[in-house]
Amino acid sequence: MLRPDAKLLTLEVPVIKPNEYVRDLIPYVPGKPVEELERELGIRDAIKIASNENPLGPSPLALRAVSEALAKLNRYPDGDAFYLKHKLAERLGVNPGNLIFGNGSNEVIEIVARTFMKPGDEAVMGEFAFIVFPIVTQAVGAKAIISPMLDLTHNLRDIFERITPRTKAVFIANPNNPTGTIVKKEEFEWFLERVPEDIIIVVDEAYFDYVEDPDYPNSLDYRRLGKSVITVRTFSKIYGLAGLRLGFCVSSEEIISYMNRVREPFNVNSLAQVAAIAALDDKAHVARSRAINREGLEYLSRELRKMYLPFAPSFTNFILVDLGTDPIIVYNALLREGVIVRPVINYGLKTHIRVTIGLPEENERFISSIKKLLSS
Ligand SMILES: Cc1ncc(COP(=O)(O)O)c(C=O)c1O
Repeated sequence: MLRPDAKLLTLEVPVIKPNEYVRDLIPYVPGKPVEELERELGIRDAIKIASNENPLGPSPLALRAVSEALAKLNRYPDGDAFYLKHKLAERLGVNPGNLIFGNGSNEVIEIVARTFMKPGDEAVMGEFAFIVFPIVTQAVGAKAIISPMLDLTHNLRDIFERITPRTKAVFIANPNNPTGTIVKKEEFEWFLERVPEDIIIVVDEAYFDYVEDPDYPNSLDYRRLGKSVITVRTFSKIYGLAGLRLGFCVSSEEIISYMNRVREPFNVNSLAQVAAIAALDDKAHVARSRAINREGLEYLSRELRKMYLPFAPSFTNFILVDLGTDPIIVYNALLREGVIVRPVINYGLKTHIRVTIGLPEENERFISSIKKLLSS
């Protein structure tokens, strides 16, 4: 924090205007940090169920690997992430050349846009699709074409209808954030069979490891169709490594080689690399994370039903709840209870909040706080 008597330089610089499409971008707003709320309220026990993080923390094996790697922080990371790439390739049954890593999957999504899209191009995406898709599209001067959702779920038939000769890419988050819904196998296959070969199909599977529905399509299973699918995944969710920033894409060697031309040389830090290698071996942590999420989701669904609060069917580690009222009033009231959730008005969802599945005591605290607010 700045001292009140700190002397600050005022920097006067000539105003240089960016491109119109950059000027008009609405910046991404992250969830409120716990420390910030505790500082503001002078409390100590705030909980954050706002950013779809793993409430169990990182894998213990990853923590050990990170502490052992600390002494080598004077060295640049391996720019090719050799060991991680080989380990993950083996795990996924692909060649190392089919993988590219990024500083979070956010970065690889951005690399896709910078590699394949230019001003005048179009990218089709669902109306409540993950907000980073329209941001990276607009940031390169391309246009986001918005497809209405059906029951808060991507409608691939509608997305298909919106493809034109200007379309360069289609973005599908499966499951989607903030709705938590999935596109099922039948619709996904229908879409993939028809989509033209010169269109990049970005399938963001950040929540892949949470989905237990047998009708959920794993986009890696469709490589035989020969379409330009780029699968995006992350270590931020079930592996609990959001703070280290590590995501990746799986695609053809040719697509990956183009993306590597745009990628910054040392974009994935050394701690993230060793942590991810260790986390991939921590099957117990993944299983615990999945189990605690399943139980939490069942509990929240049960309690929300008892309160007659509608919610979208969730296949993820969060749930989108329709409060039927101004969510900002409820969000602020929950903050005063020390509970941080996420309003999603920026998605055009004007009566909803998104709640991350937490530890059992966090879920109970959310439910008791919301009960108290709604009955007052
Ligand atoms: C659908 C989706 N994709 C990608 C991300 C980005 O995750 P990260 O950059 O931490 O890998 C998120 C984060 O919440 C997400 O919800």
